[in-house]
This record gives sequence, C-alpha cells and structure tokens, in this order.
Amino acid sequence: MAHCLAACWKQGDTNVRFADPAVGTGSFYSAALQVFGPGRIASAVGIEVDPRFHAAANNLWASRGLQLVQGDFTEWIADRVGVNQPNLILANPPYVRHHHVPRGEKERLRRLIRKTCGVEVSGLAGLYVYFLLLVTAWMKDGGLAAWLVPSEFMDVNYGAALKQVLTTQVTLERLHRFDPAIAQFGDALVSSVVLLLRKSPPVPGHTVAFTYGGTLTQPAVTQHIPVSVLHSARKWTAYPGSNHDRHRAPSGPGEVTLGDLFRITRGIATGANKFFILPRAEARRLCLPDSLLRPILPSPRLLRHTVIERAPDGYPRIDPQLCLLDCRLPEHTVERCHPPLWEYLRLAQTHGLPDRYLCRKRVPWYRQEQREPAPFLCTYMGRGQDDHRPFRFIWNRSDAIATNLYLMLFPRTSLAQILEQTPARVSEIHALLNAVTGYELRQEGRVYGGGLHKIEPGELARISAARFIERLPGLVEALGRQDRPLPRSVGLA
Ligand SMILES: C[S@@+](CC[C@H](N)C(=O)[O-])C[C@H]1O[C@@H](n2cnc3c(N)ncnc32)[C@H](O)[C@@H]1O
Repeated sequence: MAHCLAACWKQGDTNVRFADPAVGTGSFYSAALQVFGPGRIASAVGIEVDPRFHAAANNLWASRGLQLVQGDFTEWIADRVGVNQPNLILANPPYVRHHHVPRGEKERLRRLIRKTCGVEVSGLAGLYVYFLLLVTAWMKDGGLAAWLVPSEFMDVNYGAALKQVLTTQVTLERLHRFDPAIAQFGDALVSSVVLLLRKSPPVPGHTVAFTYGGTLTQPAVTQHIPVSVLHSARKWTAYPGSNHDRHRAPSGPGEVTLGDLFRITRGIATGANKFFILPRAEARRLCLPDSLLRPILPSPRLLRHTVIERAPDGYPRIDPQLCLLDCRLPEHTVERCHPPLWEYLRLAQTHGLPDRYLCRKRVPWYRQEQREPAPFLCTYMGRGQDDHRPFRFIWNRSDAIATNLYLMLFPRTSLAQILEQTPARVSEIHALLNAVTGYELRQEGRVYGGGLHKIEPGELARISAARFIERLPGLVEALGRQDRPLPRSVGLA
C-alpha cells in the first residue's frame, strides 16, 4: 500500500505529514519509513485506543519520529479537523460492526460526521466508515490516502454516504478487492479492499481503476470505471465484471425483478433452535401435544433434496422429520391443560432460555413468529465460485416452514394468479429460479472472508426477472407495468 501511494506522490519536494488513526503496533509507519525514507517525513502521528498496542508502538517508533497518542481517534479528532492536517494516510481502521457500537456513541459519531463532512451516515454503518470520513475531512487538500477496509460498504445501503464522498469529494484512484476465497487475515471474517484516494474532487471524465484478485501489485483483473457510472451504481462489487457478469447486469431502476413476483422474507428466528425444534419422534416421546407442533425443515446443510415432497399429514417426506413447538397459550393454560409441555417449558426455564434476547421480547416467551409454508425457499448462505451457485432454490410441496437459514419466497401479484389458474406451472417456476446463475446471485449477495456468501431478502428481490418474463409474457401485462422498462435482455416485441 505504501508503494502504491509513493507511485502517486506528485507533490514535488513537499514533505510527508503522515497519520494513522488506528496505528496498532505501527506497521504502516514502518512501511512509510521504508518507502518514503525518514528524511522526507516531516511529521507523523499515530492514534491508538488500546494501551498495550500504544505502549508497543511507543517502544518501537517514538524514537524514530512517530508521535503517539493514546485515546479514541473519533474523540481526539472532534476538535482537531483543520489542525496539523496530514497529507499521507495509511490506515486499517477497526472493523467494529454497528451493533457493537453503543447507541449514544453512534449518535455522537453521526453528529460529528454531519458537522465535519456534511453527509448523513446510516446507523447501520460499521466504525470504519466513520474513521474514513473523519480522516478525509481532516486531511490536507491534495493529500493521499490508502485504506484497508471491509468490502461491505460497496454493496449495502449503509455504504451510500461513503460512496457519495468517494465519487464527489475525493478522487478515488484505485479500488482493489482481494479474492474473498483467499482470506487476507486469519481472524477477519470479512472480505477486504484497498482504497487509494486523493483529497481533491474528481475531474470530469475521471475513471477509477477497479482491480480484483492476485495481489495489490499484480492484480488478476483490471477495469477502468467512469466515476459517473460509480456515482449511480448500486453494487460496486460488480466491477471489474467478467463476461458472465455482463451477460446479466444487475437490474436497473424500475426493472421487473424477483421482488415484483415474490414476497421474500427470512424464515423464523426461534431464539433457541435446539429447544424449539425437535425431531418428531422426540416430541412424541415427551408427549407434546400435536396441535402445538408444526412441521419445519432442517438446516440446509442436512437437506439433500431440492424438491420436498409432502406426506399425507403435511410433514415433509424426509428423515428425520422435525417439528417446531409453536404455542401461543398463556402459561397458566399450558400448566392446566398440557402438563407434559409445561414440564418441557420448565426445563427451558432452568437453562435461562426465557431471558435470551428474542425470547425476552415475546409474550409468552415461547411464542414463535408466524409464517405460512412457502412453496419456494432459497438457502441464505453458502459457497460457490464461477458457475457454481452459492445458494439453492428449493421447491417445498410440504406444509413445513423454515428457519432464518432460508429465505421464503411467496408468489405474489400476477405470478400468484398464474399459479392459481395453472398450478402445474409451479415446477416451471422452480426451474426458472434454478436458472438464476451463480454470477447473478453473487452480484446481489454479499461475501465474507473465506468466500462465504450471504443473501438478504432485499438483495434476492433485486435480481432481474428477465427469464420469467421471457417464459411467461403475460406476467408483465398483469403486473400493470407496461410503462416500466423491461429487463435488458428482453425484447419489447
Ligand atoms: C485493524 S487494527 C490496525 C492494526 C495496525 N495497522 C497495526 O499495524 O498493528 C485496528 C487498530 O485500531 C485500534 N482501535 C480500535 N478502536 C480505536 C479507536 N476508537 N481509536 C483509535 N484506535 C482504535 C485497535 O486497537 C487496533 O490496534
């Protein structure tokens, strides 16, 4: 990263004013010293919250020109934007996810960003987004920065403020995305990118070098993307795109997508699967009442079939059959009318289940979310490169519902009408879902370090429904969307 910055350093004799807001033991300062040489570094500051890392960095680098500050960078910077502005940043900020940032702290950070950067950050943003925006506000105009950050902001809504800054307020020179299948850091369950940017607005026609795979110095793929395209692009991980990716580009605004044809929701979160989901045989052994049990599918890992057949009682024809304890009766009724179930619930109490996060919020604590069985399911996470799809579409002919390891797809609007009129077409719909390629799924989903892909309902909903419309042209008319653009690969004839 330091070499990349040195290659962009156009500031003649200007001396380096280095800063790292999350300096750790100071490996980036070490790199800057090697690449730029101590003679060119006029000043250097590193901030570190952890006293042990601070002490280690102090031992290593204080005598070699690095001023070390022990404290929280986001507090330290609050009244220093505009003071001692650095012109060279090398940083790998903390990857703390939003739900680990206390609410009051998040509000303070959002106010600070509003004041210093003039943008509104989503409450779902991880700490690294605040670091990047604050440091950018602090930097000297024309200064250079290299950031190693998670790639998540490239695709998710919380990345919008950062993407806005990266396309309007600074010149993003390069964005390198590491191949997520090759985790960069053993302990980071995220996939990573390096951003190289200059603090000056982009000139008209500027293009950003998007590189992917290989190494930072020898990437496997490079594509130059106009910043104007990035400005309105929803998924930055679509770049650099392969020929396969371009074959089906991400759906554009107003295009008919899976979300127009299916209502897509996560399966239920029970709060304690081991307690609420049990083999049917075990439920019988415990004499739990049948009327308070309903069929549920096992984890996708244990589900070999892609078509789940229905037994006469509605349970799936799989072995073992599982059931969900789905009881809304108040405790006194359970105690009076269903003693074996009451015993089972009391067992959970001795293990503290009612105090668990989800159970605590329910009345009674064992009440479950309500879902109808969905005819189609999509597994929520998985692995798969190239043609191999990370997620599976399952045709569920049984009455089983599913946990949140699945997304549930309920046909809606015109698709629901078509299936009502001709139920036999359901297998065709399953085949069309299975025709969604691995490239499309990966493009809309998100990827974590080690190559684990996940897809949320909103992301699955954005996948183009082109194939459905090619096969069932009546869908568009029934959608009443003649005024909407058709998916790109579909002719208007
Ligand atoms: C991903 S590590 C960076 C490691 C560093 N590049 C090095 O050479 O060791 C992030 C560092 O930020 C520190 N950190 C976390 N929160 C911080 C905060 N609010 N202010 C300053 N440093 C912080 C962590 O203690 C950790 O050392």
